[in-house]
Amino acid sequence: MTRAKTGITGLDELIGGGIVEGSTVLLSGQSGSGKTVFGLQFLYNGITKYNEPGVLVTLETRPNELRSEASQFGWDLRVLEQKNALIIIDAASGKAGLPTSEKYALRRGFDMSTLAEEIYRAIDETKAKRLVIDCISGLGIRFSEPSEVRNELFRISALLRELQVTSLFISEIIEPDSQSRAGVEQFVTQGLITLNLSDANGALKRDLLVWKMKQTPHSLKKHSFKIGQSGIEMTAKKKSRTKNA
Ligand SMILES: Nc1ncnc2c1ncn2[C@@H]1O[C@H](COP(=O)(O)OP(=O)(O)OP(=O)(O)O)[C@@H](O)[C@H]1O
Ligand SMILES: [Mg+2]
Repeated sequence: MTRAKTGITGLDELIGGGIVEGSTVLLSGQSGSGKTVFGLQFLYNGITKYNEPGVLVTLETRPNELRSEASQFGWDLRVLEQKNALIIIDAASGKAGLPTSEKYALRRGFDMSTLAEEIYRAIDETKAKRLVIDCISGLGIRFSEPSEVRNELFRISALLRELQVTSLFISEIIEPDSQSRAGVEQFVTQGLITLNLSDANGALKRDLLVWKMKQTPHSLKKHSFKIGQSGIEMTAKKKSRTKNA
C-alpha cells in the first residue's frame, strides 16, 4: 500500500508510515491549535520532499496571508506556485466581499458543483497528489443539518478518492471535547486526527490524537507537539529514569 508521508517529524511513525494514498483525513481542532500550519506543512513537504504537487482551497484566510504565515517557517509558497507544483484556490476573498487577483478563485455564494469543478481543474493542471480544504466550515453547508454535511462532504471526498488525491479536510471544533463541528464529518473520512490545546499548570500545551486511520495500526495515545521555527514537530517523550540498584 502506498502512503503519503506528512514529513512531520515523529508523526508518520504513529500512522504506519503515512496517510493511505487517496484517502481523506479530517483534521480538527479549536482555534489556534495548529490546523492551518499542519495543512501547509503537509502540502509543502509533499512538494519539496516527495515530489507530490498539491492544491489548497482556502475559505477563511486570504492567499497572501497564508503565504506570509508559511514564510515564517521558511516555506516559500510563491516559488512552488510558479513551478505549478502548488495551486491556491481563493474562496476567502469572495466570501469577504473583497476583490481578488488570484488566478484560481471562487466567487461569493459558490456552490459545491462549482467548487468540485475548480478542484478538478486545479488537480488536472498541477497533477496534484495532495489537497487541503481549510476549512470546511466555510463551504456554505448548513452545519445544523448533519445529513447535509455528510452528503456534501461525501461528494467532494468521493471525487478526491476517485482521483487518488490524499486529502485533509480541516474542521474547527467549537464544543470542547468534540471531534468535529456537526458530529458527522468523521464518518465520511477515512481518518480523524484532532489537534488539542489544554491547560497544564497554567500554561497551554499542545497534543495530537489519531482517533481513526483506516487500514492502519496507529497509536491511540495523545502525543505532544510544538510549533517551532520549522513548523509542527512531535516532541519526544522523556525517557523514564531507570532506577539504579
Ligand atoms: N512562527 C511561529 N512559531 C511558533 N508558533 C507559531 C508561529 N506562528 C504561529 N504559531 C502558533 O500557531 C498558532 C496558529 O496556528 P494555526 O493558524 O495553524 O491555527 P488554526 O488551528 O488554523 O486556527 P484557526 O482555527 O483560528 O484558523 C498561533 O496561535 C501560534 O500559537
Ligand atoms: Mg486556520
